[in-house]
Amino acid sequence: MKFTQYSILINLCILTILVCASQAYDFFFFAQQWPGSLCDTKKACCYPKTGKPAADFGIHGLWPTYNNHSFPGNCNRNSGFDGSEISDLRERMQVSWPSLNCPSSNSSKFWKHEWVKHGTCSESVLDQHGYFEAALSIKEHSVNLLQILQSAGIQPDGKSYNLESIREAIKKGSGFSPVIECNVNASGNYQLSRSTFA
Ligand SMILES: *[C@@H]1O[C@H](CO)[C@@H](O)[C@H](O)[C@H]1NC(C)=O
Ligand SMILES: *[C@@H]1O[C@H](CO)[C@@H](O)[C@H](O)[C@H]1NC(C)=O
Ligand SMILES: *[C@@H]1O[C@H](CO)[C@@H](O)[C@H](O)[C@H]1NC(C)=O
Repeated sequence: MKFTQYSILINLCILTILVCASQAYDFFFFAQQWPGSLCDTKKACCYPKTGKPAADFGIHGLWPTYNNHSFPGNCNRNSGFDGSEISDLRERMQVSWPSLNCPSSNSSKFWKHEWVKHGTCSESVLDQHGYFEAALSIKEHSVNLLQILQSAGIQPDGKSYNLESIREAIKKGSGFSPVIECNVNASGNYQLSRSTFA
């Protein structure tokens, strides 16, 4: 998902470094989370009003990122979230991008947070609708993380899998190197909770 516009953006930034320093980024991280593990880590976890999410990875966000893995954030305070701009995507977002925050909600707050914090940093190339559409397309058409893991024999069955085998499976199945985060559940077992890749 390397961004070809990158070098153009940087060239522009050399001229107007103060104005666009916070707008430039090198690539996107696409972050997905496993609901079961996420709910184990958090003090509380509430299903969205649309019901319990499927046993599948959900989108966390599409994050413009620098090569040093830090993120620009909140790049345009004037660009608020407008739910009406994505009304045509809402159904797909409820399936693929559910919020597990409490209290139980229609997930709008989560989407707003992702747009304001991360999306506004790629606004020069993706408007709000484009941003959410891009993330949905990756999830729906390019990278089916659950399928990739299952094809490699890695099932969400409570058994333990070697971290390296998870990493290799994702790399082979998606073509991207993942960053993998685990959590530890109440009985001290490590669980795959989030996989992010460039
Ligand atoms: C990471 O890179 C960006 C852009 O080059 C820079 O602004 C930021 O200070 C760097 N962060 C760290 C922790 O080095
Ligand atoms: C989602 O919930 C928020 C906060 O309760 C509300 O303001 C908004 O209108 C709701 N959006 C839809 C599409 O139902
Ligand atoms: C922690 O995870 C292990 C392995 O998946 C499972 O057997 C155990 O029941 C879990 N413990 C709790 C408290 O959820």
